[in-house]
Amino acid sequence: MTLPTAVTVDTSPISAAAAHDDLDPLWRAVVTESRSRQNDIHLPISFAFAERLCDAYPEADALVVRVATLLHDTGWARVEQDRIISEGFAGDWRRADVRYEHERHGCDIAREVLPPLGYDDAFITRVTDIIDGHDTRQVSHSIEDSLMRDADRLWRFTATGIALASSWFGSTPAAYCARLRVEIVPELLTDAAVQMALAELERAEILLKIEQLS
Ligand SMILES: [Fe+2]
Ligand SMILES: [Fe+2]
Repeated sequence: MTLPTAVTVDTSPISAAAAHDDLDPLWRAVVTESRSRQNDIHLPISFAFAERLCDAYPEADALVVRVATLLHDTGWARVEQDRIISEGFAGDWRRADVRYEHERHGCDIAREVLPPLGYDDAFITRVTDIIDGHDTRQVSHSIEDSLMRDADRLWRFTATGIALASSWFGSTPAAYCARLRVEIVPELLTDAAVQMALAELERAEILLKIEQLS
């Protein structure tokens, strides 16, 4: 059962999302860490979805969700790069050691970059509690955790996410879109994310001629 929302969900193209600049110093603090696993594409798109999800669930602490989403995968920059695809996207990829490693490194990076920007220990712990286990822990601990998890998945439903993720998994765009519907939509935790996912996927399938190129 997904988390309902009383708010009308904005399902317009995420590429048209309003831009906020209050976290620009944090983006600039992780430039180096963004240059791995196309995180300089994944993180901004997931971040835009995180902001939309926070609009749909105003009871969540939006700053925690936004900072956790911005930083959650930065740890990929500190694992052996040739293991990202070989272990992180093949076989039992959800349980690969490299997945646990990127979560631990992501927490380290949060503890390095957030204090100089003025974030206190209590806030940083709330962020690292979400980053730690975001791929490998089965359950969400809070609404902020759930919104970050949904933002992490939602980017895949865009044409950009389909392009990158289908190549990582060695899949065609059509096969990857089918997988999104069958496997990833049921993993979403909130009603708002399901609405956004289906709207983005419908647009991407038309744009990418998925029916014709199946
Ligand atoms: Fe991750
Ligand atoms: Fe991610």
